[in-house]
Amino acid sequence: MTTNTTKIRIGLNGANGRMCRAIAHTVKCDNRFQIAFGVDNKSEPTDCAYPIFKSFQDVPLCDVIVDFSTPSATAYALDYAVAHQVPILVATTGHDEAQKQHIAEAGKSIPVFFASNVSFGTFLLLKLASVAAAFLDDTYDIEIVETHHRIKSDAPSGTALAIASSICAAKEQSCGANYTTVCGHALRREEHQIGIHSVRGGTVVGKHEVLFLGDDERITIAHEAENKSVFVHGALKAAAFLLTKPNGVYGMDDLLKD
Ligand SMILES: NC(=O)c1ccc[n+]([C@@H]2O[C@H](COP(=O)([O-])OP(=O)(O)OC[C@H]3O[C@@H](n4cnc5c(N)ncnc54)[C@H](O)[C@@H]3O)[C@@H](O)[C@H]2O)c1
Repeated sequence: MTTNTTKIRIGLNGANGRMCRAIAHTVKCDNRFQIAFGVDNKSEPTDCAYPIFKSFQDVPLCDVIVDFSTPSATAYALDYAVAHQVPILVATTGHDEAQKQHIAEAGKSIPVFFASNVSFGTFLLLKLASVAAAFLDDTYDIEIVETHHRIKSDAPSGTALAIASSICAAKEQSCGANYTTVCGHALRREEHQIGIHSVRGGTVVGKHEVLFLGDDERITIAHEAENKSVFVHGALKAAAFLLTKPNGVYGMDDLLKD
C-alpha cells in the first residue's frame, strides 16, 4: 500500500494495447500515479519508462493491477492479484460466464472493480435508459445501437449488454415484465424483446444509442466518447477507489456513491 507521499504503483495488463498506452500517457503528467510495470504477450520495441513483461512471472511490486487486455488474459492478472493480495480493475470486455465467475471468485479475497465501461457519461446513459424504460409502457419497442472502431474484437459491446440488462431489471421492477435481448433481428421482432445492433468501422471510439420506438414518436438517449481519455480518467478513479476498499466486487454505482 502507499502513503500520502508515495505514488500509487499501477501494473498494466495488456500494456501494449491502445487503452493501456493511453493510461501510461496520462499518468506521465499525474503525480498521484506511476506505472510500475506492464504485461503483454505481444512483444514490441518500446521506449516507455517502465518494464514490460510477457507474463506475470517475476514482475515487480505494485499497488493495483489495471486490466485492459483480452477476456482470456484477464485470468492471468486475476491469479497474480489474488496470489499477491493486490486489488484489480478489470476493464476488459467480452468475458464468458466462466470468466465472469472467475472474477466474482477473486472478489472474495481481494477488492475487484469490474465494469464494461468506466466512463461516467456512459454510466449516466445506462441510468437514464433505466428510468425511461420504467416510465414508458410496453407499447415502446426498445433497441440499442452500438458503434465502435473496426478492430474491436467483441460484439455486442459489454456496455450494450449492461444497458440491456439494466433495462430488463427496470421493466421487471416497474411492471413485472420479463424482457429478453436479441442480437439483430433475423425475424419479425417479438414483444418484450430488446434488439442490440453492432456497427463496426473506422476509428469510432465508442457510441451507444438507446431507442424507445413508440406509435408516432421516438425517444433516443445517446452517448459518444470522443476519445479514450474518458475511459482513462474513469479507470484511474476506479484504481484509486479500490485501495480504500475491503474485499468484494465493485462497479460504477459504488464509485459514484463513494
Ligand atoms: N471498461 C471500459 O471502459 C473499456 C474502455 C475501452 C476498452 N475496453 C476494453 O478493454 C480491452 C482492451 O481494449 P484496447 O482497445 O486497449 O485493445 P487492444 O487490442 O489495443 O489491446 C489489448 C492488448 O492486450 C494484449 N494481450 C493479449 N493477450 C494477452 C496476454 N495473454 N497477456 C497480456 N496481454 C495480452 C494484446 O497484445 C494487446 O496489446 C477490450 O476488451 C476493450 O473492449 C474497456
